[in-house]
Amino acid sequence: MKHNPRLNEKMARLPGFSDIHPLQPISTVQGALELMDTLSHWLTTLTGMPAVALSPKAGAHGELCGLMAIRAAHEASGEHEKRRKVLVPTSAHGTNPATAAFVGYTVVEVAQTDDGRVDVADLAAKLGDDVAAIMVTNPNTCGLFERDILEISRLTHEAGAYFYCDGANFNAIVGRVRPGDLGVDAMHINLHKTFSTPHGGGGPGAGPVVLSEALAPFAPAPWVVHDQNGYRLIEREEGEAAQAFGRLCAFQGQMGMYTRALSYMMSHGSDGLRQVAEDAVLNANYIKARLSDVMSAAFPDGPCMHEALFDDEWLKGTDITTLDFAKAMIDEGFHPMTMYFPLVVHGAMLIEPTETESKQELDRFIEAMRALAGAAKAGDVDRFKGAPFHAPMKRLDETRAARAPVLRWTAPQGSNIAAE
Ligand SMILES: Cc1ncc(COP(=O)(O)O)c(C=O)c1O
Repeated sequence: MKHNPRLNEKMARLPGFSDIHPLQPISTVQGALELMDTLSHWLTTLTGMPAVALSPKAGAHGELCGLMAIRAAHEASGEHEKRRKVLVPTSAHGTNPATAAFVGYTVVEVAQTDDGRVDVADLAAKLGDDVAAIMVTNPNTCGLFERDILEISRLTHEAGAYFYCDGANFNAIVGRVRPGDLGVDAMHINLHKTFSTPHGGGGPGAGPVVLSEALAPFAPAPWVVHDQNGYRLIEREEGEAAQAFGRLCAFQGQMGMYTRALSYMMSHGSDGLRQVAEDAVLNANYIKARLSDVMSAAFPDGPCMHEALFDDEWLKGTDITTLDFAKAMIDEGFHPMTMYFPLVVHGAMLIEPTETESKQELDRFIEAMRALAGAAKAGDVDRFKGAPFHAPMKRLDETRAARAPVLRWTAPQGSNIAAE
């Protein structure tokens, strides 16, 4: 999650974008369509991919879009019946195997090397004419660049499969690496992680999917096109779009997110976006370097990308867990890092400082972490077990929240607010 500049909010609230209706006559929404077209241009330019489907509403929805395009492509070539598997590395985000299974594929795990990357030998052994696609996150969930990515894509294409890249970590390489140059066929971009839109708890967000030449004909409708009569939307029955699998959502997607993302891109410019990636990676490496003597880095050798990953090895013998440590961070005034993910790292603590943190703020964070690490090692269990002590909400029952979620708000007794 990154900083959401106010400018984006102001742009998204301009009535010409916020007050329009998807069923308005096309002639009255020319500006909005131009914005979608311009955003598409930025996304395809930054990724080096020829096509983009804007409408997916979150990263996971983008994965669904990408795999449905892959399935449609295999159906069109008559290979769908034999290509029933999708290969997914063990370190993948849970949405990857879930999406592949949802689209009807059998998920096959690919092993990870000791240095946190895809085990290419295992991948090669599992690739064959029964594989529809691989799903690889790059930079991966361990915060590392897949240095064998070109070999991975070569092997995948040689086997007749497609390369789906989970682009959730695009922030680390935006402006520096174009996934199209790495042989990627489809990749979702979580706009909230790279282009500063709010996340929205799985939606209403936006997870546009960029597609290679081979998959472009299978992109879902609608498309924005531009000719001498202005901008308009086209649906599947026109031209090469005839092979597409249809629509992913009722209308055109999340206009507010498109506006915020484009506002962010234009205010940074292409050189500014490159700087974003460089600063995010520098910040994460600074944290990794300054904490590695008191906490155990999960992959100590070499630099990381925009996330510094620690495990809980250093907490052994203290009776303090990753969860306790994260809760104590709240008392120090810091939002806890991502915990227990990726699953391949025991007690994972995944710190993603993003590019906007200043050196002063990073130092403040590092000093707080070092002090907490010292307290943990000194056996100051009380500081951790009941934490957070200074937050309005104390330790929540997370097991109950997961097993018996209350998903519907009910008005308190005696209140005159009607429950939805
Ligand atoms: C690596 C990775 N893939 C996919 C997703 C899913 O994205 P979303 O939450 O937008 O559905 C995430 C979200 O955190 C992620 O980190």
